Amino acid sequence: MITYSPEHRVFSLSTDRTTYAFLAAPGGFLVHLHYGARVSDTDALVALTALRDRPSFQPQTPDEAPGAAGTFFSRDTALQELSGFNTGDFRPAGLRIRWSDGSCAADLRYVSHSVAPGKPEPDGLPSAFAGKDPGVETLDVLCADAARGARVHLLYTVFPACDVIARSVLVENDTSEPFTLESLASAQLDLPDDRYDLLQLPGAWARERHAERVPLAHGERRLRSVRGATGHTMNNAFALLAPDASETAGDAYGLVLCYSGNFEASLDVSSFGSTRATVGISPETFSWTLAPGASFQSPEVFLVHSAEGTGAMSRRLHDFFRGHLLDPRWATRARPALVNNWEATYFDFDTEKLLSIARAAAPLGIEMLVLDDGWFGHRHDDRRSLGDWYEFAGKIGDMADLVRQIHDLGLKFGLWFEPEMVSEDSDLYRAHPDWALSIPGRGRSLARHQLVLDFSRDEVVDAIADTILRLLRRAKVDYLKYDMNRNHTEAFGAAFPPERQGEVEHRFILGVYRLHRKLLEGMPQLLIEGCSGGGGRFDAGMLRYTPQIWCSDDSDALERLRIQAGTSLFYPCSAIGAHVSACPNHQIGRTSPFETRATVALAGTFGYELDLTKLPAEDLAAIPGQIADFHRFAPVLLAGDHYRLFPAWRDNPVEAWMFVSKDKSRAILSAVRRAAVPNIPDERLRLQGLDPAARYEVGDEIWHGDTLLHAGLPLHRLLANLDTASLRLYLRRIDAPAS
Ligand code: DGJ
Repeated sequence: MITYSPEHRVFSLSTDRTTYAFLAAPGGFLVHLHYGARVSDTDALVALTALRDRPSFQPQTPDEAPGAAGTFFSRDTALQELSGFNTGDFRPAGLRIRWSDGSCAADLRYVSHSVAPGKPEPDGLPSAFAGKDPGVETLDVLCADAARGARVHLLYTVFPACDVIARSVLVENDTSEPFTLESLASAQLDLPDDRYDLLQLPGAWARERHAERVPLAHGERRLRSVRGATGHTMNNAFALLAPDASETAGDAYGLVLCYSGNFEASLDVSSFGSTRATVGISPETFSWTLAPGASFQSPEVFLVHSAEGTGAMSRRLHDFFRGHLLDPRWATRARPALVNNWEATYFDFDTEKLLSIARAAAPLGIEMLVLDDGWFGHRHDDRRSLGDWYEFAGKIGDMADLVRQIHDLGLKFGLWFEPEMVSEDSDLYRAHPDWALSIPGRGRSLARHQLVLDFSRDEVVDAIADTILRLLRRAKVDYLKYDMNRNHTEAFGAAFPPERQGEVEHRFILGVYRLHRKLLEGMPQLLIEGCSGGGGRFDAGMLRYTPQIWCSDDSDALERLRIQAGTSLFYPCSAIGAHVSACPNHQIGRTSPFETRATVALAGTFGYELDLTKLPAEDLAAIPGQIADFHRFAPVLLAGDHYRLFPAWRDNPVEAWMFVSKDKSRAILSAVRRAAVPNIPDERLRLQGLDPAARYEVGDEIWHGDTLLHAGLPLHRLLANLDTASLRLYLRRIDAPAS
């Protein structure tokens, strides 16, 4: 619910368990009051605003003091909703505008506001939607620059049941001169404390999103990407935690940027007992000129707070993603259990090989074959043919024929593309060398022997979309794996004049989103799996179009524990692409039990990434049981609650997690032991999320919910003391709690 108290000029945004409040202070400053667990009297929060005389190095504005006469408001120390620049707040700015006279400044003041049910969806950007929730409301706070009058809308949408607030900023040029946005944060969150831990998701190829928890200290810390994509090295979702917060208790603030291009998040601990988080498009590669009458909207940021630690923070975000971001056609629908040929064959396959895998897959219960890289142009290897999206006749002949044969076996069919890329050795490049990103007079840097197409140009996106759609339709393809295997260099838009080059990277990512929309509009039943060399573009923006993303090229079960736990901090497990692959593992050489590989992959979308025709007989025999578990687990995983039983930011000796249905009648418990322990102590594993008053069937034993929650299961009896041993149990409530 969103309320405004005219007497105190306080805005109060409440969700089921949180309150977000701010003040339109005299002078028009938007002063942040509170974000956290619910408070009922938000007017009283005005008394908490800092009003005191400051030295001259914190500029004062006595004529605009928000409180009693004689008190002072310093823009440099106050908590604010979106701070300007060059007008007295020396912390990282939320908005910087370069005006036509060359000055760079911004000074936002409140003008008016409105509240409307539902949520507007911005043009061209992925964004959350109200869905079926009648409680969703949007607050539009109109501000203007004190000197020039540009209109700046601070937009807040409240999703009460998930405790999420979506924020974005819309800037309109209602002046008579053009001006340039030099930075625009999607949201700024000023918190009244200087002791937070940052929970972030750094990584690299094959070890994405290894959660890391570090105390913030005075000064600024930045998380960023200028790769043209979110990237493997730092995700654009992060959290601020109270120092004592754990998975089950304490204040946790999550911030998730709904964007897939260059981003920056700044965490700044001030000298006046506060912490500022700003997040949005990276100002390093961005500027945007607005002609009179033009407007620009930032991507959205999703804010969530939990007073019950990171576990509840994640669960609220998972509910939010499933109800308000993922395509409703797929959000809680089981995806096909698939077999992908990449690690089975790499580039070395033909129709007969693919059919042999499909023939082996069908009787086991596998539901789809995904044909990965290598089926097009003359793609013998990764040196050629990207952009030539027609069949490699020497390998597979007619695609429609192949798909028909796969369909006849009872399987769906998926196909790999890398739409944003072009090889120098390709017909596409020979026809349109100017379509690749490059700076005139500089060389074009190759990575994996490929160049990046200039997706800031509509005609390039349209041509790629038409080519792909034609093939998908002709061949009746069910599923598309959308890959992206290098980052941007020499980013320059040949179609734009020098003064608009700062728009190119943002326009590029708008082009990527437009391609996804065209594909989905052209083939509404299509399921798209996102991918970028594994998880190099795992973000909320892509999840709007691709309800699942290949989480990492590292498919080793133990490595995946850390990657998937980190990913689950913000993103729902149903979106985590996870497969059982062959051993010794292709990335790291480790051998782990087939069942352990399945246990880990069953915490995601589930499938196989191996050559079924070469699998040992005992592994093949295990597959139907694993597929049966996949179907039994799917409703709980897709719509239930996820619990990490150990912190995601550590390598724990045993990793354990649960999925619990919303009515608590079903649960899945999984655990993996990293390494055998000599002379092992007894181990108790306390479960979470169950009904304390009910009894549960756990395998073939009966346990009380309160015993499982408060005393625990004897893990040493259930989980073998062997390297990489695993446990997978289905829990069923056998009696409802006494009323
Ligand atoms: C990177 C992906 O992550 C892999 O799964 C595979 O599709 C290769 N690209 C193919 O080039």
